[in-house]
Amino acid sequence: MLHTVPREDLDALVQHEPRALSDALEQGRIVYFPSCPIALPEEAELSFLREEIGPNLRRKNVSWYFDRDRVKGLETAPVVAERAHRLLREHAARVRELLTRAMPEFSRGWTPGTTSVRPFQEKGRALSAHASNELVHVDAGAYGATHGDRVLRFFVNINPREDRVWVSRGAFPELFAAHGREAGIAGEPADPIVGTPMIGTQSSSPQRGRNDPVREGPFDRAFTSVVNAGARLAPALKMIDSSPYDRLMRRFHNWMKDTPSFRDSQVGLQTFRFPPLSAWMVLTDQVSHACIEGQHALIDTFIVPLANCRLRELSPYEILRAQRAPDART
Ligand SMILES: [Fe+2]
Repeated sequence: MLHTVPREDLDALVQHEPRALSDALEQGRIVYFPSCPIALPEEAELSFLREEIGPNLRRKNVSWYFDRDRVKGLETAPVVAERAHRLLREHAARVRELLTRAMPEFSRGWTPGTTSVRPFQEKGRALSAHASNELVHVDAGAYGATHGDRVLRFFVNINPREDRVWVSRGAFPELFAAHGREAGIAGEPADPIVGTPMIGTQSSSPQRGRNDPVREGPFDRAFTSVVNAGARLAPALKMIDSSPYDRLMRRFHNWMKDTPSFRDSQVGLQTFRFPPLSAWMVLTDQVSHACIEGQHALIDTFIVPLANCRLRELSPYEILRAQRAPDART
C-alpha cells in the first residue's frame, strides 16, 4: 500500500514517468517520501509552529486558505498571527510547486484548499466520533461538496522526535465491495454502460440511466449554482454545497466511524509509521485512514478534477455510479 519515493529518485521519476505518482495515488497507494521532498521552514520557525499555535487555537486546526489568503482558527497577538500566516503561505507555495512539477497533468485545473497545522497529540484527543482522526474513515465532503472530484492531501511530520502513526483498512474499491450494502451506499448493479470506456477525461465518461445514484438532478444543480454564486461574495458559503455523490460519501464516512462491528475490527488493518520530517500524500477519499498517534503535522489539501484521473474506474464516483440508487436522500 506504500509507494516509497527516495528523495534522490524524485527528479528522474518526474522526468521519465510523469504519471507514476498520480497512478500510484489513483491505485489507492500512499506515496511516501522518507525525506521530505521540499524545503521546510528553519528549525526556529518549526519550533514556533509547534509551540505557539496550540495554545492559541480556537478551532480543531489552524488553517491558511489559498483562495482568501487568510488564516483561520488562531486567536493571538498580531505578531504571532502574522508569523504563522507567512510560514503557512510559504509552505503552501512550496508544496504547490512540487506537486504541479511532479504531477503536471493530474494537478491541472485543481483547486488548492487549505494548509493546516495540527498542533495536538492525536492519541486520546477527545473529539466527537465524526470529527475524530483516530477512527478509520474515508474523507467526504471536503469544503462542502466535491461532486466526485478527488481529495488530495500532502502531509509532513514536523515533530522533531516522534513518528506520526496511521492505520488503514484499505482503499475504497475493496471497502465498498465488503461494506457498501451494510453501509447503505450500494444497491443493485446498474444497467449496462452505454458509451465509451471510462479511462480518460470527463468527455469520454459513460452515460447511465435514471438509476444512477450520483446523478445530479435539477434541484441539485440549481442549489449548487446558487451556492457558487453566493460564494463569490462569501467564500464560506461553499461549505453548504451538497450533491448525491457527497451525501453517499458522507454516509459511508459516518458509517465507518459509528459502526462498532467495523470500528472495532482488525480485518485488513495496516499500520504505517511516518518518522520526523518525512512526508506522504494520498487521495483521502480513496484510502481509508486514521491517525492514531502523533503531534505536529502540516497538511495541504487540494481538490483534483475527476477528469484528470486516468484510472477513473477506481474512483469512488465511478464505483458508486455503477450501482442502482440506494436510498440516498439522507
Ligand atoms: Fe481524514
